[in-house]
Amino acid sequence: MGNERWTRRQFVGRAGKTAGGVVLGLSLADFLAACGTSSPGTAGTGKLEIFSWWTGPGEKDGLAEMFKIYKNKYPNVTITNSAVAGGAGSTAKAVLATRMQGGRPPDSFQVHAGQELIASWVKANKMEAITSIWNSEGWDSKIPKDLKDIVSSNGDVWSVPVNVHRGNALWYNKKVLDSKGVSPPDTPEQLTSALSSLKAKGIANPLALASKGGNWQVQMLLENNILAAGGADFYKNVMSGKASFTDAKVVQALTWMKQWLPYANTDNSSIDWDEADNRLIAGTAVFHIMGDWAKGDFTSKNWVPNTDFGVVPSPGTKGKYMIVCDTFALPKGAPDRDNAIGWLKVCGSQEGQAAFNPKKGSIPARTDVSPSGFDVIAQSFIAEFKTDTLVPSSAHGSATPPAFASAVNDEMGQFIQNKDVTKTASNLQKASDEFLKTA
Ligand code: GAL
Repeated sequence: MGNERWTRRQFVGRAGKTAGGVVLGLSLADFLAACGTSSPGTAGTGKLEIFSWWTGPGEKDGLAEMFKIYKNKYPNVTITNSAVAGGAGSTAKAVLATRMQGGRPPDSFQVHAGQELIASWVKANKMEAITSIWNSEGWDSKIPKDLKDIVSSNGDVWSVPVNVHRGNALWYNKKVLDSKGVSPPDTPEQLTSALSSLKAKGIANPLALASKGGNWQVQMLLENNILAAGGADFYKNVMSGKASFTDAKVVQALTWMKQWLPYANTDNSSIDWDEADNRLIAGTAVFHIMGDWAKGDFTSKNWVPNTDFGVVPSPGTKGKYMIVCDTFALPKGAPDRDNAIGWLKVCGSQEGQAAFNPKKGSIPARTDVSPSGFDVIAQSFIAEFKTDTLVPSSAHGSATPPAFASAVNDEMGQFIQNKDVTKTASNLQKASDEFLKTA
């Protein structure tokens, strides 16, 4: 594992290569249509409808910051915030699909960089390329090429990255952990023993677990543990159908989960990620494995980083950064296209990213946003993003096509009930055979 640092190019190799393969599989007609160009328009009056799933604390505040900037620039445009609740877009994505299929797209929508964008909406010929906006805004010199590449296919760019979230993070209630004399764990085994000590010291369910909205939160535990057990190269191979989910490393990843589950709250199917955060704040749980949107949530509730809460990489993943990248895109037939183009420019701007990300919990996609406006944890993440091995998340749409992530979510729902490691590994491999080999 010592020699497996992924350069930015190798990261793109996973998230972008399959995307390119998908587009190469298009018919000539689809291909020509997908090459449609866009040109910058003039925003100014009328409406703008923005679609996302940012309704939680922190994330809705970040979105509001970008709306403020847009309103300053275009005071005569009325913004409709069509955010649909449900973490990871568990409900929003279905609503969006219905609207897109029915020819009623919003003006712009949130979509993860990588396969969720390219293998679905671009492939279906539902998007306008934003290449000319990208070029006219000069984003090549501001947004890393690796991020550009995963929102690109066939020489066009299809969305603008607004942030980079970190998916492999273990958050903890610092005061409770300190008072119980337990150290933040570095390894999966250390997490198991920390959970066991905390339980012995009176905390019945020290691991906060949410699974409401389709078990994507449990898929995050799985992908982080696969990264921990197998390293970045194995993770990349298994998520592209080149290594098997029945491999001993995946079995190990599932076994760690099985060891942790008895320490988790059993009402997980009725709570989402932000409610799991609340268990940490209340001190009824101590640990939560979640993306750094949890940090946006904590700080919005006046919880102070490194005083009230702390973070370590998800056990066994130090030196690795599980990328979750939110972007905004321009659907074909956007009713207020010129206003949408103004929105995309705000999303990609220094001002927009400096205002959005500190509240959202993420770090900017742009490299020229000063870290001084960010909390201490975000400042460390900004530094680690530059040196860590980067891997794209499957649970959040970058590494694998949506149909695969969805099948894994279903399997995770079964697993937290039956805790059958062998059967789960074999079912995951069936999903890989069905959705990754053909991607
Ligand atoms: C992710 C998204 C984040 C955050 C999270 C929880 O999919 O990338 O920005 O919204 O879901 O809803």
